[in-house]
Amino acid sequence: MQTIRGFRDILPEQISLWQKVEKEAILLFEDFGFKEIRIPILEKTQLFARSIGEVTDIVEKEMYTFKDRNGEKLTLRPEATASIVRSYIQHKMYAVDPVRKFYMIGPMFRRERPQKGRYRQFYQIDAEIFGVESAYVDSQLIFLLNELFKRLGLTGLSAHINSLGCPECRPSFQKALLDFIESKKDRLCENCLRRMDKNPLRILDCKVEDCRKALANAPATLDHLCKECSDHFDTVKTTLEKQGLDFSVDKSLVRGLDYYTRTAWEIQTTSLGAQSAVAGGGRYDGLVKELGGPQTPAIGFAIGFDRLVEVMEQIDKTPGDSPLDLFIVSLGDVAMEKAYHWSCELNQADIRTEMDFRGKSMKALMKRADKLNAQHVLIAGENELMENAVILRNMNTKEQVSLALKTLVPELIKILKK
Ligand code: HAM
Repeated sequence: MQTIRGFRDILPEQISLWQKVEKEAILLFEDFGFKEIRIPILEKTQLFARSIGEVTDIVEKEMYTFKDRNGEKLTLRPEATASIVRSYIQHKMYAVDPVRKFYMIGPMFRRERPQKGRYRQFYQIDAEIFGVESAYVDSQLIFLLNELFKRLGLTGLSAHINSLGCPECRPSFQKALLDFIESKKDRLCENCLRRMDKNPLRILDCKVEDCRKALANAPATLDHLCKECSDHFDTVKTTLEKQGLDFSVDKSLVRGLDYYTRTAWEIQTTSLGAQSAVAGGGRYDGLVKELGGPQTPAIGFAIGFDRLVEVMEQIDKTPGDSPLDLFIVSLGDVAMEKAYHWSCELNQADIRTEMDFRGKSMKALMKRADKLNAQHVLIAGENELMENAVILRNMNTKEQVSLALKTLVPELIKILKK
């Protein structure tokens, strides 16, 4: 039996970087006042269709959708934002305090063509802020991302930012875009032509090389911003500049989801080939209302956890298994029984302790202690037990001490907790 295409195991040997990232991210989120939210993996299909947009790659081609036994259409979440918005509305969180900050970490599902950095089950670290319109929050989220990457020792990442405007500026942009597309119509693929009437902005997502060439000089939202959007974007840029954060304005960055308004950004890397976006986010001031809540500005981002780990693997090859505090070498049945109780008590006291239950020889057990990178080995053989003592060996210094059985566990805790 094998995993499904695009799905994979993350094995214990690979997990240390995942845990490192998760720890740093949670610490940072808590510092910035975010609270964890956990949302279901399965939602009604409508939720994603309405928020991400019916005419987007994700909804048209990539969702894992099936009918439940009662005929209801359900979808494995392709992203977290829609569900978090649903939760914010469903629990009327706005009524108690409209300003909320959430983070979540977990798997997402998109049926894309698998390749390096692109999987059908992948993980996101997602953050969302509700109830704040200020451009400082936009800068703050980009700052937070930058800080996380800095703490993880990542370099060579670049922030690309754009403004997608608001319902006020969209009509003028859409008109310019449609005029332009009309003039390039004969060079566009069928999918683009189909999208012309339905959702012209999504033509700019087309990956077909000829379409990309034809659309190279397409009008940009940035050239059609209303005064408020333009001021908002200026504040984001000046704030980032004052903080000394590197970014570039990328007029062609449109993201692949329909809900965005105003600031949108991506953090890109050159080290993952075609899958350059390590994180993406933006404002979505209309979505809470669109899904049935009160008008509430909102903004967020998601980091591609798999991609982030892959970038880190290229620079950070060191972290292996963390060492074991103690390995107990027990020889004979009596010793094994005693060792069993000692190891449980030591585990209870947060001492990383292991033993072997297979009745192996001294030589084999010492080998195993080495393999597990044990810092200390406790040797409990029949001779030692007869003298009511066991030997503790420090594997680094090779020093040995004899410890009395009567006070063994507290004595070990004292030595090993140092
Ligand atoms: P997104 O750009 O679709 O945005 O995804 C965010 C990140 O998830 C991407 O930059 C990428 O690193 C990672 N990612 C996406 N698809 C895959 C895949 N198939 N395999 C591996 N990694 C992948 C969103 O999902 C928005 N919900 C972000 C957001 C939150 N906007 C506002 N709030």
